[in-house]
Amino acid sequence: MNRTDLVRLVVLISGNGSNLQAILDACQSGELAAQVTGVISNKADAFGLVRAEKAGVPTIVLEKNREQDRHAYDLQLAMHTAAYQPDWVVLAGWMRILSMKFLGYFPGRVINLHPALPGTFPGTHAIERAYEAWMKGEVKRSGVMVHLIPDEGVDTGPVLGMEEIIFREGETLGEYEARVHAVEHRLLVKTIKNIITAEEFRRRENAKSHSICS
Ligand code: GAR
Repeated sequence: MNRTDLVRLVVLISGNGSNLQAILDACQSGELAAQVTGVISNKADAFGLVRAEKAGVPTIVLEKNREQDRHAYDLQLAMHTAAYQPDWVVLAGWMRILSMKFLGYFPGRVINLHPALPGTFPGTHAIERAYEAWMKGEVKRSGVMVHLIPDEGVDTGPVLGMEEIIFREGETLGEYEARVHAVEHRLLVKTIKNIITAEEFRRRENAKSHSICS
């Protein structure tokens, strides 16, 4: 596929970047008709930056300093993100809540990965909190979801993909966490693939209706 036909993804990270890696691998193998045009991290020591650089993807580190206003930071982040001309912005382990100062630039174009089911364990340490809830007998299952971010809600928004994970008797937190990550890597790529397919379908339908009208 011609590189100009590839869907442009900008990925925002804060840490390890194993989900970024899953996206990079899927772009590389052709599973995703997409390219990562830029990676932005709010942490200078995020290992995901090394992964991006290894894949030849441009990176930016944009740390928020204490004195900086949240909205000023988000606006600056939006400018850097826009410079990579994304079709989609993917939050893959991005651990800051984004305000409308950022989201307003990419309406309906920001997706987030969260390691729990819709409406459960919003915010940080969702994997640990779900595991603790299971240990206390409060839940039997948790999961992973990918959703749109329309507003400033924390890990809320229209769900694009989800997968349940049933806890296994006797499993450790580490074992559960490894299962969550394996599901995340698969689900995130699958959801991005579905988005690309859906957009392509819509584009063709629009082209058809224009040719009928003209
Ligand atoms: C993932 O488990 C992701 O779901 C989570 O951060 C981790 C990042 O891992 N995100 C959130 O908790 C967002 N609320 P990674 O850096 O290896 O991709």
